[in-house]
Amino acid sequence: MKDYKRTLVTAALPYANGPVHIGHLAGVYVPADIYVRYLRLRGRDVLFVCGSDEHGVPITIKARQQGCTPQDIVDRYHNIIDGSFKALGINFDIYGRTSSKVHEQNASEFFKKLYDSGKFITKESEQYYDPEAKTFLADRYIVGTCPKCGSEGAYGDQCEKCGCTLSPEELINPKSKLSGAEPIKKKTTHWYLPLQDYEQWLREWILEGHKEWRPNVYGQVKSWLDGGLQPRAVTRDLDWGVPVPVEGAEGKVLYVWFDAPIGYISNTIELLPDSWEQWWKSEDTKLVHFIGKDNIVFHCIVFPAMLKAYGDGYILPENVPSNEFLNLEGDKISTSRNWAVWAHEYVQDFPGEEDALRYVLTANAPETKDNDFSWKDFQTRNNSELVAIFGNFVNRAFVLTHKYFGGQVPACGELLDADREALAEIPALRASLEKNIEGYHFREALKDAMSIARVGNKYISDAEPWKVAKTDMGRTATILNVCLQICADLAIAFEPFTPFACGRLKDMLGLDLKWEDLGREDIVPVGHQLGEAKLLFAKIEDEAIQKQLDRLEAIRAEREAAAKAEAAKQVTPQKEEVTFDDFQKMDIRTATVLAAERVPKTDKLLKLSIDTGIDKRTIVSGIAEYYSPEEMVGKQICILANLAPRVIRGIESKGMILMARQNDGKMRFITPQETLTNGAEIG
Ligand code: 2FM
Ligand code: ZN
Repeated sequence: MKDYKRTLVTAALPYANGPVHIGHLAGVYVPADIYVRYLRLRGRDVLFVCGSDEHGVPITIKARQQGCTPQDIVDRYHNIIDGSFKALGINFDIYGRTSSKVHEQNASEFFKKLYDSGKFITKESEQYYDPEAKTFLADRYIVGTCPKCGSEGAYGDQCEKCGCTLSPEELINPKSKLSGAEPIKKKTTHWYLPLQDYEQWLREWILEGHKEWRPNVYGQVKSWLDGGLQPRAVTRDLDWGVPVPVEGAEGKVLYVWFDAPIGYISNTIELLPDSWEQWWKSEDTKLVHFIGKDNIVFHCIVFPAMLKAYGDGYILPENVPSNEFLNLEGDKISTSRNWAVWAHEYVQDFPGEEDALRYVLTANAPETKDNDFSWKDFQTRNNSELVAIFGNFVNRAFVLTHKYFGGQVPACGELLDADREALAEIPALRASLEKNIEGYHFREALKDAMSIARVGNKYISDAEPWKVAKTDMGRTATILNVCLQICADLAIAFEPFTPFACGRLKDMLGLDLKWEDLGREDIVPVGHQLGEAKLLFAKIEDEAIQKQLDRLEAIRAEREAAAKAEAAKQVTPQKEEVTFDDFQKMDIRTATVLAAERVPKTDKLLKLSIDTGIDKRTIVSGIAEYYSPEEMVGKQICILANLAPRVIRGIESKGMILMARQNDGKMRFITPQETLTNGAEIG
């Protein structure tokens, strides 16, 4: 393993078109922050870079919808997101923005250098254009009828109703979202990065050189490379983004996925204008990108190819940890459906409980597979792990030390087997914790930290200092000394995971602790005066959880009602064309029901005697679900008279009653508006 001098950690730049939710936190920001805090505790030189990703089509769409500018949108969400990260203790060295001047300059320069050195190819292609708004249309700006499910409002890249992927060409009745005009195809020229030229190099670097990357990351990269890489457009026809800095490119901007990763560099430049290069261009720097799983291709293929094309000593990531997705109460988290726990709302609803969320999102992190967040599990983990084990142990150790020794760390006498055994577990857990964090296994690392709390909690319960104090103060002193050493271990081991509680615990201990102290048996010196016991974690009550569940239930109910209303608007697509002759073959007439009875042992069938004007006959019909026999008698109906007879449940049925299926699934028979002669031909 190479010994690096410094570590540059980046966390995916969240889009500033909405707040961040627990899926983002669990997938990217909490693990990245744990990693950085751990490295800092170990005294390593670390830089933690993030910022808002402020370009891209969804931001322009939102601005149009809300009648404001894209800048208004990104200003609003940049501040909300920044605030939630700070509130949750996710401490970046810089949280920048891709709408900044520094970024515009840097991204332009990056593009220009690739352009000037002939690293791009240009291609002319036909793209959709709005002749009224006089602008090219991104796929999302084109809406129409989904060719797969027939629903209206499908986008040029996807139908949100049935989930299918589309291209604008496939939409029936495509319309521009901007003007409502029918889009036309128009030629446009764009710059492309020929990714295929980097394929061999990427294979060697990742597939040969980084077999240790997480299977989901490695697997996705392999499948992209095996599928063969294609040139990727790095520019777009759009008016929001970094303008393409070459002549003849008016109305074009850099593609958001070209400029966003350059944003990591820009933000570093903004923070460290004089020394940024040592973070990006030194082989002594270890670069780690924390990202979501939908970002893998951009961080493992596109951005590295951009850096390789640029040259100039840019380093490549040593690892790209990416999680799977987190679901919420069994359902996919969705911004558009408001099915999420929003970070900024959480910090308002649960003030002082920031650690609880960090803890649960780590204990339940979707590191190897999709996972579910449920409010009940959140409550249980907080109450029965953080409060009942970690918090309870520390509280007992402090309260008893205050009670028997006035808060002064008592002397450690001769250690018994139980003391030695408890203390001996800590170094092994520390080693495991280190290995897990450095291998990006944060769930396991958290289990190691929690095991230290379990060791302490079990030790104090078994040793019962409150009983021993009645007879043996010397032994009581030893027990509490051991407990306080374990409290200090916890303040160190948990710092990356629950930094707020650990801050309080360090205050209580009145010590400045380092990672290297973890596992030492004399961290807390004898005679040292402890601070007052403070609450490390608070119990989360049922009412608080119920409030969250009620909110989600209301959203679910609203969504179901909207889906029903939408379904009620839908009609099945028209059937294949028939000729007039085909139609003429059908003998459709009016008739009257003379008698009706249920067909025995069936739920759905009625046997109807009807007067067709031609004859009196029997028709067996599947309408018992919708009408009782009594309701049918005397009704005039329409029938297909010349349908070939069929025997149903032993009864010969001659003809068919015409029924209409409504959107709610119910069938109704068709009846003339006024009473007609039986046998009147319909056509
Ligand atoms: O998926 C996203 O939220 C993107 N905005 C991530 C960008 S990461 C980096 F490249 F900037
Ligand atoms: Zn569809």
